[in-house]
Amino acid sequence: MFPSMSPSHKTASSMETVLVVGSTGHIGVSAVMAALKSKRKVLAIVRNQASAQKLIKAVGSAEGITLAYADITSDTGVRDVVQRVRAGELPEFQHVYACAGGLYGPPPLPDLSLEELHRYMNVDFETNFFAYRETIRYLHQQDHGNSTWTLCVGSQGDLAMLPAPAMTQGALYSMATAAARDNEFTNVRFNEVYLNLRVEVDEVAAKNGTVPSSTFASVYEQLLSRADIRSSRVRVDNLEDMKTLKWAKKF
Ligand SMILES: NC(=O)c1ccc[n+]([C@@H]2O[C@H](COP(=O)([O-])OP(=O)(O)OC[C@H]3O[C@@H](n4cnc5c(N)ncnc54)[C@H](OP(=O)(O)O)[C@@H]3O)[C@@H](O)[C@H]2O)c1
Repeated sequence: MFPSMSPSHKTASSMETVLVVGSTGHIGVSAVMAALKSKRKVLAIVRNQASAQKLIKAVGSAEGITLAYADITSDTGVRDVVQRVRAGELPEFQHVYACAGGLYGPPPLPDLSLEELHRYMNVDFETNFFAYRETIRYLHQQDHGNSTWTLCVGSQGDLAMLPAPAMTQGALYSMATAAARDNEFTNVRFNEVYLNLRVEVDEVAAKNGTVPSSTFASVYEQLLSRADIRSSRVRVDNLEDMKTLKWAKKF
């Protein structure tokens, strides 16, 4: 059962925190940048110190970022982080951004072993599923009036040029629709960001001619303040879509 909207919702605080799952990747860095730019703090889940350093280097500073070490591929990783938040060992959070994954491999369908299929599903899909399952009730219980849950997915799920990553994105589209339905009338605005471009951390993007994480950050920065966008797919096909958001209901 999910709580419904009620006037008893707490008012938005000026110091909110965004939990980022997949924080050290190209998209995660953009989410961290967006959260900081919108004057929020960040609780970033990282797998080790090397990844933490990568994140801080890409963002340019550790200010406003609390690190939480966990294995997001395990079904207890995010759960343990939430338990530490409940115990007061880590900051409370009001928003979640999930963008774990990033596996891109070429095996054609007939050559995809069961082991490889499971690896893709674990890294690209289950990480984001665990993130949702382990945080959504916490957000409902916090009853914050301006909570959001945002999932980044790729157009590979429709293009299917790389079958293994494509299938994980297809599963994420369905998960996002289910979560959008679940939260249509709760205190949490669930949205899916559908990305049809290559985004990379600024240094890499400059070399490869792709979209820098700092540019893509504007999508999440806007979404955090767009109370009118709920249970929707925000579609990003070009740079213009990062300036003016384009969205449609998921169901
Ligand atoms: N980048 C794009 O242009 C793009 C486009 C469309 C959609 N997307 C979506 O965004 C997701 C992330 O893309 P990305 O480019 O940001 O990928 P990325 O740079 O490879 O980052 C993926 C994130 O997941 C973590 N991760 C991956 N495997 C892990 C493992 N085995 N254990 C623990 N953590 C692991 C990474 O941690 P480490 O840093 O420690 O490796 C990192 O935080 C994709 O799966 C896709 O759904 C991205």
